[in-house]
Amino acid sequence: MAKEVYELYYRGFRRPTKGIVEVSKFFKEEGISKVLDLGFGNGKNYIYLAGTGFNVCGLDWSRQGARMAKDGLKHNGLKARLVVGDMFKPLPYRDGQFDAVIAVRSMYHGRLSQLKKVIKEVARVTRKEGYLYWRVAGFKNLKYMRDELKAPLKKLEPNTYIVTGGQFEGNIRHYFSKKAAMDFLRPYYRIKNAKSRLGPMGFERRDFDILAQRK
Ligand SMILES: C[S@@+](CC[C@H](N)C(=O)[O-])C[C@H]1O[C@@H](n2cnc3c(N)ncnc32)[C@H](O)[C@@H]1O
Repeated sequence: MAKEVYELYYRGFRRPTKGIVEVSKFFKEEGISKVLDLGFGNGKNYIYLAGTGFNVCGLDWSRQGARMAKDGLKHNGLKARLVVGDMFKPLPYRDGQFDAVIAVRSMYHGRLSQLKKVIKEVARVTRKEGYLYWRVAGFKNLKYMRDELKAPLKKLEPNTYIVTGGQFEGNIRHYFSKKAAMDFLRPYYRIKNAKSRLGPMGFERRDFDILAQRK
């Protein structure tokens, strides 16, 4: 079961994603206040954003991640507005409730048809002219999974793989090209910025950082 992967995965890693530190400065300039962290993981970005004055909510289906995020928030004297839930289901938020949504390496776990439902929901809960910061794994991650993690992968459909062994067993990933990632957002968003980045810890696995504004 894909969900269980993350119960094992989260340890104490709490440094925020570099792109989040950068984009949060832009968010401040734009007067962004309410932010949804979709797939908050162990809460490292949630904690950073809440700690720098944003009003943050988060949704993730990992209970272990939520426990870690709650501990981290409590430790920092911050409020936890966390939902343990499935992003493939309708998001438990009102239309236009958020000024911005961040989805850091979460909105690529799934089949494209599932992810299309997620982005529709993300767009629904984002106010007009609000922002999406999306960090998404590019194709080089596939090579990384194969070569570095030696994870056995089975192709489910074009650009979509399931991990069939090891630490990430059951995990489904849809790999986007930069163009495909931008096209995926375009029904709802104007692309403001899209750049390639090295993966965490400098692994040679390209991610894309995309900042987009709700139409
Ligand atoms: C690679 S981790 C990234 C976590 C965090 N955003 C970070 O940057 O550290 C992906 C996260 O997406 C969550 N996730 C994957 N599929 C999900 C789903 N269908 N519903 C909710 N959360 C999901 C996982 O539990 C995991 O915490």
